[in-house]
Amino acid sequence: MDLFDKKTKLAFLIHSNYLLLPVINRFGIKLGFRDKNIEDICLEKNIDLNFFLAIINAFQNHEYFPEKELRSFSSELIVDYLRKSHIDFKKISLPKIEQQLNNLVEKSHSDDLKIIQSFYAKYKEELIEHIQDEEENAFPYVLELQKVADKKTESLPAHLVGYSIQSFEKEHTNVDEKLFDLKNIVIKYLEPNYQNNDCNAFLFELFQFERDLTDHARIEDKILVPKVMAMEKEVKA
Ligand SMILES: [Fe+2]
Ligand SMILES: [Fe+2]
Repeated sequence: MDLFDKKTKLAFLIHSNYLLLPVINRFGIKLGFRDKNIEDICLEKNIDLNFFLAIINAFQNHEYFPEKELRSFSSELIVDYLRKSHIDFKKISLPKIEQQLNNLVEKSHSDDLKIIQSFYAKYKEELIEHIQDEEENAFPYVLELQKVADKKTESLPAHLVGYSIQSFEKEHTNVDEKLFDLKNIVIKYLEPNYQNNDCNAFLFELFQFERDLTDHARIEDKILVPKVMAMEKEVKA
Protein backbone atom coordinates (compact mmCIF):
# COMPACT_ATOMS: atom_id res chain seq x y z
CA MET A 1 0.00 0.00 0.00
CA ASP A 2 1.44 3.35 -1.05
CA LEU A 3 1.16 5.99 1.62
CA PHE A 4 1.56 9.73 1.17
CA ASP A 5 4.51 11.10 3.09
CA LYS A 6 5.89 14.51 3.97
CA LYS A 7 7.68 14.79 0.62
CA THR A 8 4.48 14.13 -1.39
CA LYS A 9 3.54 17.14 -3.50
CA LEU A 10 0.09 18.58 -2.81
CA ALA A 11 -0.64 18.61 -6.55
CA PHE A 12 0.11 14.87 -6.72
CA LEU A 13 -2.15 14.27 -3.73
CA ILE A 14 -5.17 15.83 -5.48
CA HIS A 15 -4.36 14.19 -8.84
CA SER A 16 -4.36 10.86 -6.95
CA ASN A 17 -7.70 11.48 -5.26
CA TYR A 18 -9.75 14.62 -5.76
CA LEU A 19 -12.06 13.56 -2.90
CA LEU A 20 -9.27 14.64 -0.57
CA LEU A 21 -9.94 18.27 -1.48
CA PRO A 22 -12.57 18.92 1.21
CA VAL A 23 -10.35 17.05 3.69
CA ILE A 24 -7.35 19.32 3.11
CA ASN A 25 -9.63 22.40 3.06
CA ARG A 26 -10.48 21.56 6.68
CA PHE A 27 -6.84 22.20 7.49
CA GLY A 28 -7.05 25.62 5.83
CA ILE A 29 -5.27 24.47 2.65
CA LYS A 30 -6.52 25.82 -0.67
CA LEU A 31 -5.62 25.17 -4.31
CA GLY A 32 -2.71 26.86 -6.06
CA PHE A 33 -0.07 24.60 -4.47
CA ARG A 34 2.64 25.13 -7.11
CA ASP A 35 5.40 22.65 -6.20
CA LYS A 36 4.85 22.64 -2.45
CA ASN A 37 4.97 19.33 -0.66
CA ILE A 38 3.10 18.30 2.48
CA GLU A 39 5.94 19.27 4.80
CA ASP A 40 6.16 22.78 3.25
CA ILE A 41 2.45 23.45 3.57
CA CYS A 42 2.23 22.13 7.14
CA LEU A 43 5.08 24.42 8.16
CA GLU A 44 3.52 27.36 6.36
CA LYS A 45 0.07 26.85 7.86
CA ASN A 46 1.20 25.65 11.27
CA ILE A 47 -0.44 22.24 10.85
CA ASP A 48 0.60 19.17 12.84
CA LEU A 49 2.41 17.20 10.10
CA ASN A 50 1.89 13.72 11.55
CA PHE A 51 -1.78 14.31 12.25
CA PHE A 52 -2.30 15.60 8.71
CA LEU A 53 -0.55 12.55 7.24
CA ALA A 54 -2.54 10.14 9.39
CA ILE A 55 -5.86 11.75 8.40
CA ILE A 56 -5.22 11.83 4.65
CA ASN A 57 -3.73 8.35 4.54
CA ALA A 58 -6.64 6.91 6.53
CA PHE A 59 -9.07 8.60 4.14
CA GLN A 60 -7.18 7.36 1.10
CA ASN A 61 -6.68 3.73 2.17
CA HIS A 62 -9.45 1.82 3.83
CA GLU A 63 -7.09 -0.75 5.28
CA TYR A 64 -4.78 1.90 6.67
CA PHE A 65 -5.92 3.00 10.07
CA PRO A 66 -3.10 3.64 12.53
CA GLU A 67 -5.36 3.52 15.59
CA LYS A 68 -2.58 3.76 18.13
CA GLU A 69 -0.95 6.69 16.39
CA LEU A 70 -4.20 8.52 15.86
CA ARG A 71 -5.14 8.11 19.51
CA SER A 72 -1.86 9.69 20.52
CA PHE A 73 -2.91 13.07 19.09
CA SER A 74 -4.47 15.57 21.45
CA SER A 75 -8.23 15.65 21.92
CA GLU A 76 -8.20 19.31 20.81
CA LEU A 77 -6.67 18.35 17.46
CA ILE A 78 -9.10 15.49 16.84
CA VAL A 79 -12.18 17.43 17.98
CA ASP A 80 -11.16 20.44 15.91
CA TYR A 81 -10.96 18.30 12.78
CA LEU A 82 -14.30 16.64 13.55
CA ARG A 83 -15.96 20.01 14.15
CA LYS A 84 -14.71 21.33 10.84
CA SER A 85 -16.14 18.24 9.15
CA HIS A 86 -19.51 18.93 10.80
CA ILE A 87 -19.48 22.46 9.38
CA ASP A 88 -18.78 21.03 5.90
CA PHE A 89 -21.59 18.51 6.24
CA LYS A 90 -24.11 21.14 7.34
CA LYS A 91 -23.05 24.00 5.11
CA ILE A 92 -21.83 22.25 1.97
CA SER A 93 -22.73 18.57 1.56
CA LEU A 94 -26.33 18.54 2.80
CA PRO A 95 -27.40 21.73 0.96
CA LYS A 96 -25.78 20.38 -2.22
CA ILE A 97 -27.60 17.04 -1.95
CA GLU A 98 -30.83 18.88 -1.26
CA GLN A 99 -30.41 21.21 -4.20
CA GLN A 100 -29.76 18.29 -6.54
CA LEU A 101 -32.76 16.42 -5.22
CA ASN A 102 -34.99 19.48 -5.67
CA ASN A 103 -33.72 19.86 -9.22
CA LEU A 104 -34.64 16.30 -9.92
CA VAL A 105 -38.11 16.64 -8.41
CA GLU A 106 -38.87 19.90 -10.24
CA LYS A 107 -38.22 18.38 -13.64
CA SER A 108 -40.18 15.19 -13.19
CA HIS A 109 -43.57 14.28 -11.81
CA SER A 110 -42.69 10.95 -10.34
CA ASP A 111 -44.23 10.00 -7.02
CA ASP A 112 -41.08 7.98 -6.24
CA LEU A 113 -39.17 11.19 -6.02
CA LYS A 114 -41.60 12.57 -3.48
CA ILE A 115 -40.98 9.46 -1.36
CA ILE A 116 -37.22 9.95 -1.74
CA GLN A 117 -37.62 13.57 -0.74
CA SER A 118 -39.46 12.74 2.45
CA PHE A 119 -37.01 9.91 3.23
CA TYR A 120 -34.16 12.37 2.75
CA ALA A 121 -35.85 14.96 4.98
CA LYS A 122 -36.06 12.42 7.81
CA TYR A 123 -32.49 11.31 7.28
CA LYS A 124 -31.24 14.89 7.38
CA GLU A 125 -33.16 15.66 10.55
CA GLU A 126 -31.67 12.64 12.28
CA LEU A 127 -28.15 13.44 11.14
CA ILE A 128 -28.36 17.10 12.20
CA GLU A 129 -29.66 16.01 15.59
CA HIS A 130 -26.74 13.60 15.94
CA ILE A 131 -24.22 16.30 15.00
CA GLN A 132 -25.84 18.80 17.35
CA ASP A 133 -25.64 16.31 20.19
CA GLU A 134 -21.92 15.80 19.60
CA GLU A 135 -21.29 19.53 19.39
CA GLU A 136 -23.23 20.37 22.53
CA ASN A 137 -22.51 17.36 24.71
CA ALA A 138 -19.86 14.89 23.60
CA PHE A 139 -17.15 17.29 22.39
CA PRO A 140 -17.32 19.71 25.35
CA TYR A 141 -17.14 16.70 27.67
CA VAL A 142 -14.07 15.35 25.86
CA LEU A 143 -12.27 18.70 26.04
CA GLU A 144 -13.06 19.15 29.74
CA LEU A 145 -11.89 15.63 30.49
CA GLN A 146 -8.66 16.28 28.60
CA LYS A 147 -8.02 19.33 30.82
CA VAL A 148 -8.37 17.15 33.91
CA ALA A 149 -6.10 14.48 32.40
CA ASP A 150 -3.51 17.18 31.63
CA LYS A 151 -3.89 18.47 35.20
CA LYS A 152 -4.87 21.91 33.91
CA THR A 153 -7.89 21.75 36.14
CA GLU A 154 -8.75 19.75 39.26
CA SER A 155 -12.01 18.16 38.23
CA LEU A 156 -14.80 18.09 35.71
CA PRO A 157 -17.45 20.85 35.84
CA ALA A 158 -20.31 19.74 38.11
CA HIS A 159 -22.79 19.12 35.27
CA LEU A 160 -20.39 16.66 33.63
CA VAL A 161 -19.49 14.60 36.66
CA GLY A 162 -21.07 11.19 36.46
CA TYR A 163 -21.09 11.11 32.68
CA SER A 164 -19.07 8.84 30.45
CA ILE A 165 -18.28 9.04 26.76
CA GLN A 166 -20.61 6.14 26.14
CA SER A 167 -23.55 8.11 27.49
CA PHE A 168 -22.77 10.86 25.00
CA GLU A 169 -21.52 9.23 21.84
CA LYS A 170 -24.36 7.35 20.20
CA GLU A 171 -23.98 4.55 17.67
CA HIS A 172 -23.48 5.56 14.08
CA THR A 173 -25.04 2.51 12.49
CA ASN A 174 -28.50 4.03 12.25
CA VAL A 175 -27.50 7.12 10.29
CA ASP A 176 -25.13 5.07 8.11
CA GLU A 177 -27.83 2.57 7.26
CA LYS A 178 -30.32 5.28 6.37
CA LEU A 179 -27.90 6.81 3.88
CA PHE A 180 -27.32 3.41 2.30
CA ASP A 181 -31.09 2.86 2.09
CA LEU A 182 -31.52 6.21 0.40
CA LYS A 183 -28.95 5.30 -2.24
CA ASN A 184 -30.55 1.93 -2.64
CA ILE A 185 -34.05 3.30 -3.27
CA VAL A 186 -32.65 5.53 -6.02
CA ILE A 187 -30.58 2.74 -7.58
CA LYS A 188 -33.15 -0.02 -7.42
CA TYR A 189 -36.62 1.44 -7.48
CA LEU A 190 -36.64 4.77 -9.24
CA GLU A 191 -39.00 4.80 -12.23
CA PRO A 192 -36.86 5.58 -15.29
CA ASN A 193 -38.65 8.78 -16.26
CA TYR A 194 -36.17 11.26 -14.89
CA GLN A 195 -33.37 13.44 -16.26
CA ASN A 196 -30.19 11.31 -16.40
CA ASN A 197 -27.76 14.05 -15.55
CA ASP A 198 -29.70 15.35 -12.59
CA CYS A 199 -30.18 11.93 -11.12
CA ASN A 200 -26.56 10.91 -11.64
CA ALA A 201 -25.36 14.12 -10.03
CA PHE A 202 -27.60 13.45 -7.03
CA LEU A 203 -26.36 9.88 -6.68
CA PHE A 204 -22.68 10.87 -7.10
CA GLU A 205 -23.16 13.41 -4.33
CA LEU A 206 -24.67 10.76 -2.05
CA PHE A 207 -21.75 8.39 -2.67
CA GLN A 208 -19.23 11.11 -2.00
CA PHE A 209 -20.99 12.19 1.16
CA GLU A 210 -21.21 8.61 2.37
CA ARG A 211 -17.46 8.19 1.98
CA ASP A 212 -16.75 11.38 3.91
CA LEU A 213 -19.23 10.49 6.62
CA THR A 214 -17.94 6.93 7.03
CA ASP A 215 -14.42 8.24 7.46
CA HIS A 216 -15.69 10.74 10.01
CA ALA A 217 -17.64 8.16 12.02
CA ARG A 218 -14.61 5.84 11.99
CA ILE A 219 -12.49 8.56 13.61
CA GLU A 220 -15.16 9.10 16.26
CA ASP A 221 -15.78 5.41 17.00
CA LYS A 222 -12.29 4.01 16.71
CA ILE A 223 -10.17 6.95 17.80
CA LEU A 224 -12.05 9.45 19.92
CA VAL A 225 -14.21 7.08 21.96
CA PRO A 226 -11.39 4.63 22.94
CA LYS A 227 -9.07 7.56 23.64
CA VAL A 228 -11.64 9.14 25.95
CA MET A 229 -12.38 5.81 27.63
CA ALA A 230 -8.67 5.48 28.43
CA MET A 231 -8.67 9.01 29.86
CA GLU A 232 -11.76 8.24 31.94
CA LYS A 233 -10.03 5.23 33.43
CA GLU A 234 -7.01 7.35 34.33
CA VAL A 235 -8.93 10.35 35.69
CA LYS A 236 -11.67 8.51 37.51
CA ALA A 237 -9.44 5.81 38.99
FE1 LIG B 1 -19.56 13.72 14.16
FE1 LIG C 1 -20.95 10.99 15.01
